[in-house]
Amino acid sequence: MQGTIFTSFSDMVIEKMGMECWNQLLNQTNPDSSGVYTAGAQYDDAELLQMVTLLSQQSGIAINDLLDAFGEHMFEKLYQNSPTDLSSINSLKDFLLAIDTVIHSEVKRVYPDAYLPTFKYPSPDANDLEMHYSSKRKLCFVATGLIRGAAKKFSEKIQIDHPVCMHDGADHCELIIQFQGKIDE
Ligand code: HEM
Repeated sequence: MQGTIFTSFSDMVIEKMGMECWNQLLNQTNPDSSGVYTAGAQYDDAELLQMVTLLSQQSGIAINDLLDAFGEHMFEKLYQNSPTDLSSINSLKDFLLAIDTVIHSEVKRVYPDAYLPTFKYPSPDANDLEMHYSSKRKLCFVATGLIRGAAKKFSEKIQIDHPVCMHDGADHCELIIQFQGKIDE
């Protein structure tokens, strides 16, 4: 997985739990990278999952909740570093509809080594947005966190339901986004 994902993760751990916690995670998991990540390079997914698992054991926070919090935290960084100009997209729904065909496809063009998840939208015109996520990495909880981060960016209230999940054996996850208006309304 790309270095940006790892640097966002280390930033979050250091910001929320302190440098000592980050150093401890590195000592205990002893990753091949030694915890030194370059934004555009690729690193072993297992490094991230080992750290999240250990953090979960130490903090008592469930792995899925940690991944969701991580996704939310990472959103702003991905948005700021996007290779495409995203400023012309001005609603959360339009933004979510653009992930697959505009945002991630541009990431893939700029970084051919990147492996990106796919999102399908079976009924894009309905009020609620159904997003079908699939990825060999099964990081659906990072996806829900990223969606929460995007909702914050657009100041929109949402509810996310996740009735079908790859972790229960399905070949994709179904994320249903209900749009509940502007945060400051
Ligand atoms: C709500 C919006 C977004 C969602 C739901 C989303 C979803 C995801 C997920 C779940 C992953 C983890 C990899 C996987 O599942 O296989 C990922 C990776 C990634 N996304 Fe997005 N994403 C969003 C927005 C963005 C934006 C704005 C950018 C900026 C250009 C971006 C760039 C990337 C990059 C660079 C990776 C890592 C690729 C790699 O590891 O090689 N994403 N995305």
